[in-house]
Amino acid sequence: MTSAETVAVETLADEASALDSADPLREYRDRFVGAESSLVYFDGNSLGRPLRASVDRLARFAQDEWGGRLIRGWDESWMQLPFDIGDALGRTALGAAPGQTVIGDSTTVLLYKLVRAAFDAAVAADPARVEIVVDRDNFPTDRYLVEGIAAERGGTVRWIDVTLDAGVDAASLRRAVGASTAVVVLSHVAYRSGFLADAATLTRIAHDAGALIVWDLCHSAGSVPVQADAWDFDLAVGCTYKYLNGGPGSPAFAYVATRLQDRLVQPVQGWMGTADVFAMEPAYQPAPGTRRFLSGTPPIVGMLAMQDTIALLDEVGIRAVRDKSVALTSFAVRVADALLAPLGVVVASPRDPSARGGHVTLSHPAMRAVTARLWTQDVIPDYRDPGGLRIGLSPLSTSFAETLAGLRAVEAALRAEA
Ligand SMILES: Cc1ncc(COP(=O)(O)O)c(C=O)c1O
Repeated sequence: MTSAETVAVETLADEASALDSADPLREYRDRFVGAESSLVYFDGNSLGRPLRASVDRLARFAQDEWGGRLIRGWDESWMQLPFDIGDALGRTALGAAPGQTVIGDSTTVLLYKLVRAAFDAAVAADPARVEIVVDRDNFPTDRYLVEGIAAERGGTVRWIDVTLDAGVDAASLRRAVGASTAVVVLSHVAYRSGFLADAATLTRIAHDAGALIVWDLCHSAGSVPVQADAWDFDLAVGCTYKYLNGGPGSPAFAYVATRLQDRLVQPVQGWMGTADVFAMEPAYQPAPGTRRFLSGTPPIVGMLAMQDTIALLDEVGIRAVRDKSVALTSFAVRVADALLAPLGVVVASPRDPSARGGHVTLSHPAMRAVTARLWTQDVIPDYRDPGGLRIGLSPLSTSFAETLAGLRAVEAALRAEA
């Protein structure tokens, strides 16, 4: 290292240490499994670390509830769990009044149910509305589902072009929607760039065009405050295994605004979506409220761990989580500018923190190899084509010192790959 580089690293180390000392959330990191190790985790936006409380909860559940209560557990609490957790999540992270959020299937399956229900309702109200609007850089599952639903229901897809380091803004949505739009499907935080959409404005634009909008909240739930009711959302879905630390494959949530619930009919008509589940009626009769968006037996074991993060969000407040998230991503951008830009790395995420979610993408042709090298050193970011190293900074479980250590490891790996 040249002496100028040494000074830059020392300055950043001082800054990380000052930021950690001043961080009002610093003690929460110790509540996570693995906090004591030197491993750098940059993937809490993909699979969050478990809380220690969840380890106990899972063991207690197996022993006492599953093992002790056996099938009685369904009547005692499990049947109600998707709705109780949904309401708690709605209150702590989504700005949703009770009775609108439910835990269900995977994000993919819930998204399919909601987009198809919305499309069918829009066409029923106005047969000229045959288009589903989606952007070309939306998450693959969102794009594939939209194409499948359009093919299945005789609709068409209208694509919005976006640059890979940004996302959908008001002007591009205004150009795409009109009298033929049935449904708009957008991500609140873009999975690749981390671009944070102005969800209130985009929802208004969709509504002004007479369309419904379905939000994918996977990369915002638990990290960026959402005001589903105040922003007049129609429908939303999101993952619980990212910032909500629900564990691998934990089930997703769906938000359905009260005003729409009884108008929408979702396509996977299973017994758990009926009003009287054990009546075993001859024909499907959708339940009122959010129950109709369920299909089969709720995945209760998968719903355990997320409850601990929801309780933590209740304790900490989503605003404080967002403040730390902005501080972490802003620090990561400063470190990238100081240490990685000289090696040709480009910040492929918005530089304005108000337009950025909880992750930062750093772009360089060698990043695929860099990621593989880092994983062997217990530094764990992820990689997204083309050349994007994603640095996911889960606010409750990541420190500033960890962020600096990880980015210094990126620097060393880039030098080794050169
Ligand atoms: C933005 C976004 N949407 C949808 C999904 C799909 O979620 P699932 O695989 O749980 O269905 C993901 C998964 O990572 C995602 O990041």
